Amino acid sequence: MRVLSGIQPTGRPHWGNYFGAISQYIALQNNEQAFYFIADLHALTTIRDAERLRQNTLNAALDLLALGLDPKQATLFVQSEIPEVTELTWLLMTVTQMHLLDKCHAYKDKKERGIAADAGLFTYPVLMAADIIIYDSQLVPVGVDQVQHVEVTRDVAQRFNQIYNREVFTLPNYRVMEATAKVVGLDGEKMSKSYDNTVEVFEEPKKLRKKLMSIKTDSTPVEEPKNPDTCSIFTLFKLFANAEEQDALAARYRAGGMGYGEAKQALYEKAEAFFGPARERRAALAADLPYVQDVLAAGAKRAREKARVVLDRAKEACGVSTR
Ligand code: ADP
Ligand code: TRP
Repeated sequence: MRVLSGIQPTGRPHWGNYFGAISQYIALQNNEQAFYFIADLHALTTIRDAERLRQNTLNAALDLLALGLDPKQATLFVQSEIPEVTELTWLLMTVTQMHLLDKCHAYKDKKERGIAADAGLFTYPVLMAADIIIYDSQLVPVGVDQVQHVEVTRDVAQRFNQIYNREVFTLPNYRVMEATAKVVGLDGEKMSKSYDNTVEVFEEPKKLRKKLMSIKTDSTPVEEPKNPDTCSIFTLFKLFANAEEQDALAARYRAGGMGYGEAKQALYEKAEAFFGPARERRAALAADLPYVQDVLAAGAKRAREKARVVLDRAKEACGVSTR
């Protein structure tokens, strides 16, 4: 089965990105054909600084490799290194109905807030559709906010197939990891860069501890029982702990006699044990950039071979070829 997903190089990954998206990629990489790419073309809709985009793109590759993406199992590449994708985007654009894009949230949110949007943001889902169908992808693991875009992809692919009356494109399915579909941030709201409530995956231990210690709690005195189910420290702890560890901490909440500081310390220790080794792997990779660049070049070569086949099929079907 062909599994594919893309990640925008918009900055340092936070726990929401990891548990909502990246961990799924890694869990699915032993599928015989997993393709993962860094969506630098999509990032152009928000990053308008060449050096920053270049840096972020390389950083995203480091992040994924450090977090366990194994280039021997999965194909890792940079979106813009597959020019066939942008070519296919145009073919798809000619069969994409405006009303489908009108309701896509990135554009709609901007419009509703009265911010002028670029054509790139409006047509963003069509580029994403091309990303997906150019490799005959069957399964697209995504965060919950991307589901809508995979649905648009299906519509567009289906419409192309209908118009040209043949099965040019494979229709993809999405997969959302429900249990962690929404990771909460330090303030109990959805963790997001836009809310300034994130904890970064590769945070240094000292800063990590400080950040976790800053989680706001209610003023229940130490000796009183506490409710783990309404506490964001406990909600975050669950991301890292097995059932037994969760039960043990929940029991301590309910028994009273435990201050929130102790729960924060328990969260810190779990998080550090979980991400600490990846932070070290990342530092080692950052010291060997030629290796990372080789991985990306080999990935792009493999991805292009497949992209060429599907693009040719599409061009032939719609008549932009003389063969
Ligand atoms: P942010 O909201 O911080 O800007 P992005 O929109 O760049 O994050 O998200 C990148 C990926 O990570 C998406 O697939 C998204 O669904 C996932 N993701 C982001 N935040 C969370 C969260 N709090 N919980 C679960 N998944 C998340
Ligand atoms: N739009 C996705 C995001 O912001 C990234 C992305 C681009 C993507 N192309 C894709 C994800 C194709 C899955 C499949 O997270």
